[in-house]
Amino acid sequence: MKINVKVGDFRQEETDAIALGIYEGEDSLTPLAESVDQALGGAISNLMGLGDFEGKLKQVVTLYTNGKVSSPRISLVGCGKAEDFNQENIRQVSAKHAQSLRNLGVKKIIVPIPDDISDLPVQAIVEGVKLGLYTFDQHKTEGRNEIKELEELTFLTANESRTSVIKQGIELGNTITDGVILARDLTNQPANYLTPTILAETAQSVAKEKNLRCEIFDSVKLQEEKFGAMLGVSQGSLEEPRFVILEYGFEEANEKDTLVLVGKGITFDSGGLSLKSGSGMETMKDDMAGAATVLGAMQAIGELKPDLHVVGLIAASENMPSGTAQRPGDIVTSYGGKTIEILNTDAEGRLVLADALGYAKNFKPEAVIDFATLTGAVVTSLGRSTAGIMGTDQKLVDRIISAAEKTHERVWQLPLWDDYEEALKSEVADVKNTGDGTAGAIVGGTFLKKFAEGYSWTHIDIGGTAFDIKGSSYISKGGSGYGVRLLIQLVRDWH
Ligand code: BES
Ligand code: ZN
Ligand code: ZN
Repeated sequence: MKINVKVGDFRQEETDAIALGIYEGEDSLTPLAESVDQALGGAISNLMGLGDFEGKLKQVVTLYTNGKVSSPRISLVGCGKAEDFNQENIRQVSAKHAQSLRNLGVKKIIVPIPDDISDLPVQAIVEGVKLGLYTFDQHKTEGRNEIKELEELTFLTANESRTSVIKQGIELGNTITDGVILARDLTNQPANYLTPTILAETAQSVAKEKNLRCEIFDSVKLQEEKFGAMLGVSQGSLEEPRFVILEYGFEEANEKDTLVLVGKGITFDSGGLSLKSGSGMETMKDDMAGAATVLGAMQAIGELKPDLHVVGLIAASENMPSGTAQRPGDIVTSYGGKTIEILNTDAEGRLVLADALGYAKNFKPEAVIDFATLTGAVVTSLGRSTAGIMGTDQKLVDRIISAAEKTHERVWQLPLWDDYEEALKSEVADVKNTGDGTAGAIVGGTFLKKFAEGYSWTHIDIGGTAFDIKGSSYISKGGSGYGVRLLIQLVRDWH
């Protein structure tokens, strides 16, 4: 979809539809809506007077203009009460409106930007529209001809001097949504298409395009570097593991703050010998969503060029049962030398992350943030709209919470008190990989904490938010790309 900006008057624009937001309540027409109402001979106030359109959030009505203005349609979307309106509502409303216009077969839309507002909604509209129209249909061979697509979105302003800030909003919106869409595509891609090798190759091509430094460890290199926990997870699979190191701002790394992003990249989690049930495995192609979040964010960071050194680490492996798979009772030695007793091979995410978090220390980071579909327990605790956040540095946690509030990617903090450590004590190794079955999300975080030593660290458990979120108009079924927008916001707000 092309997105651009134009100077002009809505009455004279040749397009398929003009999109207009309307607040709920009497006498709620904004000056822009007033002028549209006038041009249509009072059609909007009539409609509202009859009670056929109230301006309730996401309510859509399309009016036919019969030559009163150049566009054949003026389409109204309810924005809810003016005093409740916020960035999240803009995304929701834009997504819903774009979907209903797309379903009508509309190809081109114009969105007039009012002259009288200071806080331009452009970035949020681009996010809502592009993310709301997202579909993953590359493997469908039937019904392709019926697919309708919006082709062009034009922001219209009467004020020439506003075009450059509108353009900035469009660019930022495009960069952010491209990152989210990359993460969604990767998460939706089934495990027979997205192996650890292909995930690493994708990272490499993102790096090439955005001028990031990229290094990939194969299994030989992983052995040399002593990534024993990750190798243990991958040994049951015919697919080779990959550890990806992406770096933005490498040249001036020493002068800048270093932020390390770590992603769990299990391209398929069968559970290993501690095999999952059939239904428990159905969505486990999404177990690399943390890696997808990191890669989507790194792509955007390469474009936005913040004043930071950002490292993206992706620990990619399959988790499969076989004659070569690791067994419950096995003991592995992680990157930093700590030994782990494997009691449940399905708690594999924390194993690959143990090595990655150990490796992160080499960058002497100001902060390390990991994203992982780590536990089913986080879904039990917080459901599918909210991720669990835990960390060793409250300031860092608070910064992430504040970024999450801005992007409406919800997080809720869980404690990492010492009390939880008891559950991970092993008789035969430094730590075991499962607890006693209680407080699963916290015990997962507590395990990771043992490997996230020597720096400020935060863990975000996206077990519930990575896939099949409900209730948001701009997040479809399947991969959500959760966390990409949050990370971009955090990086943009860093200084
Ligand atoms: N990838 C799963 C976590 C998961 C399960 C996320 C379902 C989203 C939905 C992870 O590797 C796993 O299997 N964790 C186990 C840990 C347990 C064995 C301690 C879990 O949550 O059951
Ligand atoms: Zn698992
Ligand atoms: Zn897993």
